[in-house]
Amino acid sequence: MAAGDRKTWDFDSYAGLERYDQRMRGSRRLCYEDALRRLPSSASARPKDLVLDIGTGTGNSAVPFLELGCSVVGVDPSEQMLKLAEDKLRRWPGRFSVQHVDDPFLCLPFADASFDVVVSAYAIHHLADPDKQRAVREARRVLRTGGRVVIADTMFRDAPHKARALAEYPDMEDEYQPLLTTFPGMFEAEGFEVGLQQIGDLVWILVARCRGRAS
Ligand SMILES: C[S@@+](CC[C@H](N)C(=O)[O-])C[C@H]1O[C@@H](n2cnc3c(N)ncnc32)[C@H](O)[C@@H]1O
Repeated sequence: MAAGDRKTWDFDSYAGLERYDQRMRGSRRLCYEDALRRLPSSASARPKDLVLDIGTGTGNSAVPFLELGCSVVGVDPSEQMLKLAEDKLRRWPGRFSVQHVDDPFLCLPFADASFDVVVSAYAIHHLADPDKQRAVREARRVLRTGGRVVIADTMFRDAPHKARALAEYPDMEDEYQPLLTTFPGMFEAEGFEVGLQQIGDLVWILVARCRGRAS
């Protein structure tokens, strides 16, 4: 939903949130389950890694890491989405916690070098491009040396790809999907090595590794 010149999304104000998981799983465009399943291997995650999930929502993006044996902290600005994560919290007591944070991509309430992995799935499209660069810097701050960032979302290969996609799916006009001509460079500017994995016509996983040995 657009508000002025800023596109804003307030999940707390959406009706039917309890059907969120079902809707995401049912969308062929999003390749949702396929992308989430691949996240731990894309991140080279190991059991006992400490993972930060930005925009965790109902917690689905945390689940594959929990199944591997990682501990996950999920942050999200939506109280209602976090409430829906409660059953998942009960399944992994002591290894999954969530925190309400107003602007988690830009201002994380965690010390420097706290996490082995930062993950975000289907949330970075909520940030305009100047904020994306700030978000990369903030993710870098909370990552340990050798840590990894993995971002799954709808992304566009280039401007013609974006134009074709928006013609087919006008609802995407309300979002800031990353462009692969610029997004990887934001990570390289912060000293990451970047790789890309294509999951579907519009869905990619960006993998960014901090240079240096894992601590
Ligand atoms: C489509 S859901 C994805 C949730 C979950 N990661 C998943 O894979 O199902 C997008 C989430 O991003 C959150 N969100 C919206 N704006 C955000 C922002 N500026 N920073 C971080 N998260 C945001 C929403 O509250 C919502 O929970």
